[in-house]
Amino acid sequence: MSQLFSTATLGTLTLQNRLVMSPLTRNRATGNIPNELMAEYYAQRASAGLIITEGTSPSANGLGYPRIPGIYSAEQLAGWKRIADAVHARGAKIFMQLMHCGRIAHPLNLPAGARVLGPSAIAAAGDMYTDAEGMKQNAMPQAMSEADIRSAIEEYAQAAKNAVAAGFDGVELHGANGYLLEQFLRPNSNQRSDGYGGTIENRARFVLEVADAVIKAIGKDKVGIRLSPYGVFNDMTLYDKMESDYTWLAHQLNARGLVYIHVVDHSPMGAPKVPDSIKEMFRSVFKGKLILSGGYDAARAERDLAAGKCDLIAVGRPFLANPDLVARWKSGAAENAPDMDTFYTPGPKGYTDYPTLG
Ligand SMILES: Cc1cc2nc3c(=O)[nH]c(=O)nc-3n(C[C@H](O)[C@H](O)[C@H](O)COP(=O)(O)O)c2cc1C
Repeated sequence: MSQLFSTATLGTLTLQNRLVMSPLTRNRATGNIPNELMAEYYAQRASAGLIITEGTSPSANGLGYPRIPGIYSAEQLAGWKRIADAVHARGAKIFMQLMHCGRIAHPLNLPAGARVLGPSAIAAAGDMYTDAEGMKQNAMPQAMSEADIRSAIEEYAQAAKNAVAAGFDGVELHGANGYLLEQFLRPNSNQRSDGYGGTIENRARFVLEVADAVIKAIGKDKVGIRLSPYGVFNDMTLYDKMESDYTWLAHQLNARGLVYIHVVDHSPMGAPKVPDSIKEMFRSVFKGKLILSGGYDAARAERDLAAGKCDLIAVGRPFLANPDLVARWKSGAAENAPDMDTFYTPGPKGYTDYPTLG
């Protein structure tokens, strides 16, 4: 009996299967506004149980990359509404990933008046693509003042309300992969000496205040979070207390009753190994749903579900390249290979033109 293709519950929702489309930034949102091409792309993939959108900024300050969407203007909300409707019409549920890029940004990618922010004035090593001038070093962020922190929390809460007003089933807080929330969590990017830096209780304060505000805005059944313990993407570093810090965080998130935790494992992409022990820790500490991701194929997904390691499996690159991934995994058909050259380029090529089975 397939677990993967059986229905599942998520809060008050029933998912048509346990396959989740991972959040995938695709940079097709010209002017930071979701458009018809994006609606077509998501609708093509709506045989998933749950779609988690690409990282979407709660504010102009959070738009680090070119052509990523936001959810803070009326025009953005209207664009996302068409996407949520198109996905729902085909049976999937949809959560919006709220991604504030923080210091992974360049001013050339931001609208006039927006600011590159971070917990501390420490630039991330590495380069950022800009449409205007090609590759640039990640910008030096301004260390957020307490007022900046309060407005960012308010932006997340308003963004979550906007997502629900646009018809979304919930939001995923992007607490992974070196963006603003993880920049606060990690000691190499957070060297604050106030109540938001130092101990894990302090480094996690921003994340938990964001979670509390978003829960207050839309309800805990609609709020999940993505985390990347042991992740080093975007100049995050490994450190000694990683496992105990994330264990503490798991208890806090459990106490708040979030609907899911979504664990990133980029070791199939060459990143450091994410020990099984930390995935098992999330499973035992957190009573909501657990989503595992990273390098899954159908057989491994079935195995991990059958072993009770998680409730749902998220898949990125295979979904990117196979709009009908569910049908292919059900029938064992061959898959299209993802074309990396068109991951982040504008237009339909490598986006909506991957072939489906006849
Ligand atoms: C093109 C591309 C864009 C991505 N964008 C995001 C993103 O916006 N948010 C996020 O949390 N992860 C993002 N990821 C990571 C994926 O969600 C996923 O964790 C990763 O691809 C590993 O899963 P896979 O082996 O199934 O592809 C991205 C990955 C790729 C390849």
